[in-house]
Amino acid sequence: MHPEIETWYRGLYDENYARLNAKHSTVMMSPSDEVVEARKHAKLGIGLDIGCGRGGNTLFLAEAGFKMKAFDLSPSAIKNLREEAEKRRLEIEAVAGNFLHELLPFKFNIVVASYIFDHFEEDEAHYIVRRMQEKTQKGGVNVVTTFGHGTIEHPDAAIRHHHFKMDELLRLYRGWQIIRCEKTRKNDMNLPHKFPVLKLVAKKTAA
Ligand SMILES: C[S@@+](CC[C@H](N)C(=O)[O-])C[C@H]1O[C@@H](n2cnc3c(N)ncnc32)[C@H](O)[C@@H]1O
Repeated sequence: MHPEIETWYRGLYDENYARLNAKHSTVMMSPSDEVVEARKHAKLGIGLDIGCGRGGNTLFLAEAGFKMKAFDLSPSAIKNLREEAEKRRLEIEAVAGNFLHELLPFKFNIVVASYIFDHFEEDEAHYIVRRMQEKTQKGGVNVVTTFGHGTIEHPDAAIRHHHFKMDELLRLYRGWQIIRCEKTRKNDMNLPHKFPVLKLVAKKTAA
């Protein structure tokens, strides 16, 4: 991610998250249905949410018993998550920073990447998937939710998003047990979505 784009995203998201925090809004604080499903297939242990936003998926997994680590570029998103974790007495390590710069010395039982891939170019998106896989324990689960191919490109030509095709995602997860693989045009509230959304839940079967 180019440093200028990182700054742009941080500003854009942070402003919106700060506004939601000020209103004590619960927007983006519920888990996605694919994370709810994935949780049933993952052994309890440690979990990772990259680009966690306001923390809906992180909070759900922590409440389910996972010891969670979560990253987001936005300090306001992380502030919300930390406050919520404290209120609910949950063990969550919430870090304001770029997950691409993190070493991550552990292998996790569940790794979630929800709506983050369209912030990256193809090479980076593939690199992130490989890294998620590498940082997953045998028997662990990955959840990828992302805008799919056919999503309208950002008007600013400097911003190059990658929109996965399902067969491309499935190729990256070859050798994994595919638990869910879905292309939908509905959002989490079951309302029509402008763009195709891909949802993949996969289990690592080999070390
Ligand atoms: C569309 S939001 C999705 C938030 C959350 N995962 C969800 O599904 O509600 C994308 C989030 O990714 C974060 N993000 C993008 N690139 C990131 C990076 N390199 N490191 C950490 N967070 C990042 C943004 O700050 C933003 O909060």
